[in-house]
Amino acid sequence: MDLYAVIGNPVEHSQSPFIHARFAEQTGQAMRYERRLSPPDAFAETVRAFAASGAAGCNVTVPFKTQAPQLAARRTPRAVLAGSVNTLRFDGDGWWGDNTDGIGLVRDLTGNARATLSGSRVLLIGAGGAAAGVLGPLLEQRPATFVVANRTAAKASALVRTHAAHAHAHGVSLGVAPLDDCGVGFDIVINATSSSLQGGKIPVASTVLADHALALDMMYGPAAHAFLRWAGEHGARGRDGLGMLVEQAAEAFHFWRSVRPDTAPVLLALRDRQAGVKT
Ligand code: ATR
Repeated sequence: MDLYAVIGNPVEHSQSPFIHARFAEQTGQAMRYERRLSPPDAFAETVRAFAASGAAGCNVTVPFKTQAPQLAARRTPRAVLAGSVNTLRFDGDGWWGDNTDGIGLVRDLTGNARATLSGSRVLLIGAGGAAAGVLGPLLEQRPATFVVANRTAAKASALVRTHAAHAHAHGVSLGVAPLDDCGVGFDIVINATSSSLQGGKIPVASTVLADHALALDMMYGPAAHAFLRWAGEHGARGRDGLGMLVEQAAEAFHFWRSVRPDTAPVLLALRDRQAGVKT
């Protein structure tokens, strides 16, 4: 029985144990997946103790994703580009670090939501860790135009600089813009800010939405409600981050087990479970 866990602080709310238990049942994998709370200043020690107990790997969540690369002897190219790691595999000859958030978002957009990224106009709102984690894989889908808009302009510029060669290699026009003047008529608008957690208003004007745009908030549950309501009120198709959550987990599962689970029934089960939660 191989052991995995999600390590974070806080970690109690994490849906990952539920998701990975469903994947393991479905694919017949002999594994257990738990939660581990790490003290804020002892992330490395917590991971090393977990590995020493015989575990095979872990997911890393808030606020440790940017500390996790230092624990990996080897990183996948997408983890290097993201500057953060959400999946560690404790191989005997050197730990591997991967970041599955971006590919998870791409799979949710193109597979579950049936959106077309190739040739489209995409707006990414935010330039923090969540935005950095997804930008590379989004660019690989070859949108025509990609704009990063952020409250602090310097952070958007820095993010675009680290991805400029990647954008060029994939034929994408990548630029930055201020939140109050970031252009109009985007086919896909992705909210990667944490503004809703502080009760902030929607950080961009509704004119950013093209007719029938897809507007996705990387949050889920009550934190996504205001953004989804805003999308619906302006003729866009709103989508929360639950699909991305399940897809990034499936990619981590594949990284560990070399088996690809069917995500559709797990996303449905998770939506049912969320609907049953009184908030
Ligand atoms: P995360 O890991 O969730 O991305 P983060 O790295 O702290 O967390 O980034 C939070 C993002 O949300 C940033 O883009 C931040 O903008 P700044 O770079 O200007 O700080 C954005 N954000 C947070 N509160 C916001 C608000 N009230 N309005 C607009 N953007 C906000």
